[in-house]
Amino acid sequence: ELDLSLQSNSGPHSSTLPHKQPFVIGVAGGTASGKTTVCNMIISQLHDQRVVLVNQDSFYHPPSVEKLKKIHEYNFDHPDAFDTELLLSCMEKLKNGEAVSIPNYNFKGHKRSEQARQINPSDVFILEGILILHDPRVRGLMNMKIFVDSDSDVRLSRRIQRDTVERGRNIENVLDQYARSVKPSFEEFILPTKKYADIIIPRGADNDVAIDLIVQNICTKLGQHDLCKIYSNVFVIFSTFQI
Ligand code: CTP
Repeated sequence: ELDLSLQSNSGPHSSTLPHKQPFVIGVAGGTASGKTTVCNMIISQLHDQRVVLVNQDSFYHPPSVEKLKKIHEYNFDHPDAFDTELLLSCMEKLKNGEAVSIPNYNFKGHKRSEQARQINPSDVFILEGILILHDPRVRGLMNMKIFVDSDSDVRLSRRIQRDTVERGRNIENVLDQYARSVKPSFEEFILPTKKYADIIIPRGADNDVAIDLIVQNICTKLGQHDLCKIYSNVFVIFSTFQI
């Protein structure tokens, strides 16, 4: 109740009320490690919060026409494949309470779809992607960093299944891309980001216990966030009365 009455303050000092900062969670891990499933399990347990999932995939640079002609040589697992500046500017706006539109990426055509995705400010943002823990500026946005650790043979078999069924690839191409760029980039760029994680989840989405512990921790942290907000609002009201 206190929270609502303070937020509806529209007096001359209302612009000084601090904006509620969202809680940002980063979820990284190798291809087909179960990142999306882990995120969805976390979201389904956070009933009382507004939660938005933002995929790093949405920020893939569309390859140029020249590069599209040699798409089998393109490395989609390299940090430079992502438009990290765009991701940062979208997150900056969302943290300031502004809505943004982010690209919708089409894996079949390797390009952004015409229709962008509208994202509104929220209580919790989950940033998910193979290299989401790579850039220090993106890591700096996060309140919690998770690395989903699944065996590479499990990941490869899931990737074959997914890419042939959902992403319009044939098995030879999937295996060629895996050996040429996915596996080497995992070792060079993705695996080294595990050291930045606060939590490493072995066996990915099969690990119910880990997910329960993470959700409990998020709820505790969100409680603290709200308390901080109430204290800072009370402080603003108090200073207003002093003037
Ligand atoms: N990729 C691709 N073609 C593109 C763009 C990306 O094959 N045009 C591949 C990259 O090689 C990269 C993978 O997509 O390895 C990234 O997606 P991935 O993390 O596997 O998908 P998620 O569904 O997020 O994975 P998870 O199963 O962990 O949820």
